[in-house]
Amino acid sequence: MTHQLSDLTAEGLRSFVAGQLERSRARTVQLTDAVDTDDLVRQHSRLMSPLVWDYAHIGNQEELWLVRDVGGREPVRQDIDELYDAFMHARADRPSLPLLGPAETRSYVVEVRDKVLDVLDHVKFDGGRELVDNGFAFGMIVQHEQQHDETMLATHQLRTGVPVLDAPAPPAGRRLAAAEVFVPGGVFEMGTSVEPWALDNERPAHAVRVAPYVIDAAPVSNGDYLKFVLGGGYEDERWWSEAGWAHVKKASLVAPRFWEVADGNWMRTRFGHREPLPLDEPVMHVCFYEAEAYAKWAGKRLPTEEEWEFAARFDPATGRTRRFPWGDESPGPQHANLGQRHLGPAPVGAYPAGASPLGVEQLIGDVWEWTSSDFTPYPGFRAFPYDEYSLVFFGPDYKILRGGSFGTDEVVARSTFRNWDYPIRRQIFAGFRCARDPRPEERI
Ligand code: AVJ
Ligand code: FE
Repeated sequence: MTHQLSDLTAEGLRSFVAGQLERSRARTVQLTDAVDTDDLVRQHSRLMSPLVWDYAHIGNQEELWLVRDVGGREPVRQDIDELYDAFMHARADRPSLPLLGPAETRSYVVEVRDKVLDVLDHVKFDGGRELVDNGFAFGMIVQHEQQHDETMLATHQLRTGVPVLDAPAPPAGRRLAAAEVFVPGGVFEMGTSVEPWALDNERPAHAVRVAPYVIDAAPVSNGDYLKFVLGGGYEDERWWSEAGWAHVKKASLVAPRFWEVADGNWMRTRFGHREPLPLDEPVMHVCFYEAEAYAKWAGKRLPTEEEWEFAARFDPATGRTRRFPWGDESPGPQHANLGQRHLGPAPVGAYPAGASPLGVEQLIGDVWEWTSSDFTPYPGFRAFPYDEYSLVFFGPDYKILRGGSFGTDEVVARSTFRNWDYPIRRQIFAGFRCARDPRPEERI
């Protein structure tokens, strides 16, 4: 959606940015207006902030970057910076802070937004400031809001009580011609130096060689994962890494989060609705260790981040690295399940138009996909515009997830976008697909 920004006139870019700001705010308002005041200030899980914290934090980041930095204007509420600095207070401690209440939060974010629209009216995009080049700072803040909206959607999933969210069902699935795809490997351009709103950790583009491998044509389904559960996968140490086995015992994991057995039937609860486990949907709410154990049980492994991106972007016909599995066009509803358009992943096979040239499907949208890779910087990485977006997280503590979920907005879901989390996390909308080394007779 954003790769052609340099072709726009300043007025075209201004109206594009204004539209994106409006779209992300509409989503934030929808997610927060959906619940009552009590639900906004309550902590639904120690893993999450109260919704009202995310809401004011969205406004505070917007104030810091767009009102003060880009606009050079006076602070709106300097006194609250510390409360909404994610590095000052752990999520679990946020409810006990003297946070702005819901009404105060709403008027704060509106006041910030009014000033931002005025800054946008006056900003010179070609003033030689890297921060505003192609509207980058605005794009960063739009993506920040959309990322917190996905986090708030995960908080909604953890909330108890009557359902408050609604959306049409995703498209129907279909049977895939083949469960796996052989990928010939080769050299491709990983990451990007040209997507104007790509964040620092996606940069720069660099050549990477990938050996031939085999990858699942679709994410692992609930039905497939259920076989692992019923086959005693959670009680068999053989399938688990040392850290994974220690975790599964300590946390007493027996199945994906939000699954349960009732009267002998496997049920799944989503956004307050309990229903029989849909076997053809991608499995979700599994941690990295569960993904890793399933893959080993299946005689496979998780793909590396390089293998994931190669499958998503490499076009064997031209040897070119493309923007998306389906080509260079920005995602449409026919390509991928994004943006909370539906309230869950679509069944396997629901997006034939989103397939890569090699026939790999549902790489973008539906569920975040765990990879086997740690979050590390690309060669030539430069922290921009602040160390706390990526730099401070690099290292072996975090695993990379790719592709975005049904709750990821298209302004975020680039095929170069890198998400990361602790290997024990399950409240995010994460699933996975498997890969493996080719057998000798499969190599062509
Ligand atoms: C990229 C999703 C891991 O939510 O912690 C939000 C995004 N960074 N505010 C997160 C982010 C600062 C980040 N993730
Ligand atoms: Fe944030």
